[in-house]
Amino acid sequence: RVVVISPQVRKNVDSFLQKHLMQKKEYSNDDSDEVGDSDKENDENTVPGRGIARMVKNEENSLRRTNFRMEIRQRSWQESPEGEKVLSFRKTLPAYKVRETLLEVLSNHQVMVVSGETGCGKTTQLPQFILESEIAAGRGADCRIICTQPRRISAISVAERVAAERGEKIGETVGYQIRMDSQRSRDTRLLFCTSGILLRWLMSDSELMEVTHVLVDEIHERGMYEDFLLIVLKNLLSRRPDLKVVFMSATLNAEMFSLYFDGAPMLHIPGFTHPVQSFFLEDVLQETGHDLTATNQIDDYGHDKSWKMERQLRSKSHKNQVTAVAHAALAQQDYSELPSRVRDSLQLWNPESLNFNLIEKLLAHICEQDKEGAVLVFMTGVEDISALLDQLKKHPVLGDSKKVMLLASHGSMGTPEQKVIFNPAPPGVRKIVLATNMAETSITINDVVFVVDCGKAKESSYDALNNTPCLLARWISQASVRQRRGRAGRVKPGVAYHLYPRAAYDALEQYQQPELLRTPLHAICLTIKSLGLDSIEEFLGKALQPPEERAVHNAVQLLKTIGALDDHEALTDLGRHLSMLSVEPKLGKMLIMGSIFRCLEPALTIAAGLSVRDPFIAPAEKKELADESRLKFSGEDCSDHLALVRAFKAWMKAQRQGKAGEYCWKNFLSTQTLQSMRQLRRQFLGNLSEAGFDMISSDEFSQDLDLVRGVICTGLFPGVASAVQKTRSIIIKTKNDGQVNLHQSSVNGREQRIRYPWLVFSEKVKTSGSSVNIRNTTGISDSILLLFGGELRRGCEPGYLLMEDGYLEFFMDPELATMILRLREELDELIQRKLEHPKLDVHGEGN
Ligand code: CDP
Ligand code: MG
Repeated sequence: RVVVISPQVRKNVDSFLQKHLMQKKEYSNDDSDEVGDSDKENDENTVPGRGIARMVKNEENSLRRTNFRMEIRQRSWQESPEGEKVLSFRKTLPAYKVRETLLEVLSNHQVMVVSGETGCGKTTQLPQFILESEIAAGRGADCRIICTQPRRISAISVAERVAAERGEKIGETVGYQIRMDSQRSRDTRLLFCTSGILLRWLMSDSELMEVTHVLVDEIHERGMYEDFLLIVLKNLLSRRPDLKVVFMSATLNAEMFSLYFDGAPMLHIPGFTHPVQSFFLEDVLQETGHDLTATNQIDDYGHDKSWKMERQLRSKSHKNQVTAVAHAALAQQDYSELPSRVRDSLQLWNPESLNFNLIEKLLAHICEQDKEGAVLVFMTGVEDISALLDQLKKHPVLGDSKKVMLLASHGSMGTPEQKVIFNPAPPGVRKIVLATNMAETSITINDVVFVVDCGKAKESSYDALNNTPCLLARWISQASVRQRRGRAGRVKPGVAYHLYPRAAYDALEQYQQPELLRTPLHAICLTIKSLGLDSIEEFLGKALQPPEERAVHNAVQLLKTIGALDDHEALTDLGRHLSMLSVEPKLGKMLIMGSIFRCLEPALTIAAGLSVRDPFIAPAEKKELADESRLKFSGEDCSDHLALVRAFKAWMKAQRQGKAGEYCWKNFLSTQTLQSMRQLRRQFLGNLSEAGFDMISSDEFSQDLDLVRGVICTGLFPGVASAVQKTRSIIIKTKNDGQVNLHQSSVNGREQRIRYPWLVFSEKVKTSGSSVNIRNTTGISDSILLLFGGELRRGCEPGYLLMEDGYLEFFMDPELATMILRLREELDELIQRKLEHPKLDVHGEGN
């Protein structure tokens, strides 16, 4: 008899076999047993064969019952008046037209790639089609569909939308899971989660036995985790022939993915967007119809020079120059080699900065129009979004909340705050959303009719040569421009304004570089190791576009330096713990050390603060006040990190007294960032105690600031710079970069003389040109660096410390150094014992 056994049943049977049968070494396959015979219930242990048969049958029956319930429920919703309305809406989506084809292809193939314009219904419909068809086939109880999203907010908003389309509450059949938040239950069959969450699951369930379908969404973005999932899934397919995988992409270049999966079938969903009229800078100036004589006056103040450009753009020859200029500008060439006339015209359009006044005028112009619809403005990041918001609020029309609803949307906002952007504006009010490129593909604001595109996006990148992360506003790709434009044509014909010349568009790259090629790889390398996959190099070599060898080497080197990998690239005890914490490995180390040294409290705050963002904020023009506030919290301690700890602590206290709002306002702190930090702290605590670290008396030494400095150092190493006093200034150097700038926002940036010979830092960025900035620093002494910094090579001469790329020199009394190094060896041993057995109380001895 052929019995189809679901993965769930198989798991139960397996564990039953392991528990009861293998010991007895007997197994009779007698399934003549009658189901539902309650007298025999207790026989399971004594007559194992019968037990299994009954279990299988019971389980099958219960699965059938569950599926039946699901089917009834689904049908009664679809037949209800509201359900009918939803269904008829769904049927208008382009994705619905390919429903049958999709299901058929999927039933015959293990992998497929689906592409279609944003808004055509990939994310909300495809997983539903699969779920519905599984229910229809009687497998509803059994199926587990996972759909990954690159961003947290899209996971939530899409899950809520799909639950609503099924007439359910979130967390029933449809749920979501993101870091720090989930809505799911035993009934959940379709789960939207971030790609990072799926990767974490792979650590405990490497075969994804719990999952029947994986849909990886937005692969065209080429996010790091998505590219990673491609490799993992490619490896997994042969071991899980019953697993179905769908890749979803918003752009047409699906061939690349199909080829990667040995020619997996592709399905393109024919587009449905209303036509979008596209204006480039030259047209924008014309369209807004502003009086050029008036704008000349603005020119005199040095603002808004792009207006003047229109006149020059009228002549054809000038257009060619702009093309040349655009090319030069985009390739970041040396302008000084350009003819002077071209150089002059370049100044009229500044590709380096956003023109807020132009945006303001354009928005005012849109608000004057009769055409209804929301406006979506693509900006580069949080900073310019808030700066523009401040400016617009002062405008007589745009700042009038009775006429205009001004909103912001970026990745670092809290979830409830984000949800507001989906709400329609009241009648007669114009909704304007200033967003980062997050709004490009993954979230859908329904009523957008106007798009304003600044042409840029903040992109984290990584300079492998100098081993330095950079965060720069860069020109987006042509593919992104098309995406952004498409956002305007969702409900009716729309309009897109691109704030750069058409020539600049022509000069853009076709597609964006994949994230895997532009980010530091150490976190992903640690994941590879903890998943027990091949060697790191081999694994990453199998990527769709493998990263540079040098970047991989740097990542492995860093993991060795912090002690997560040993010399043979094997995961150490520390590495094993770090891979379980959902935080950047170096900060994870800070947490673990905080727990071992019993000063966890400050470590939690710092790790949380550095994972979220700086809570000290102020409007652009009052930036110094925020820096002053930080200085006040740091006191005499020369530490931005300790300032953070104190500010957080005082906020908690103010909260208990019900004065949190006032406190934040006075001290230039962001309530919302502090709240996210509190949430993260809780999550870290949970992680640590899961890993077995003892939380009792974990704060015994939190007041010992030298110890806390040491713990900060363990978490920031090898981020160390030396500080040397020169007559008037302090020279800061790192081993790799030579002289670096210490950012003025750091409390140490304000010191006139050095008080510590070393600064550990949590942020080093290459900004424009070749200058390297460090910010967020803590001063530490020689002995703390020797005791807590990186790994000490045994037998090395006193006075040297192993850094990423060699030795860091010390100038200290050799006798003292020898003593410290001996102490260090004992300390290392103690830490190692604790890492092996976190529960062991090693403090008693030699505290
Ligand atoms: O994934 P894709 O961009 O192809 O589209 P989707 O996110 O599945 O959205 C399909 C349609 O559902 C959109 O065109 C919207 O009309 C609608 N939708 C919505 O109204 N509200 C949401 N939160 C998500 C989608
Ligand atoms: Mg989508």
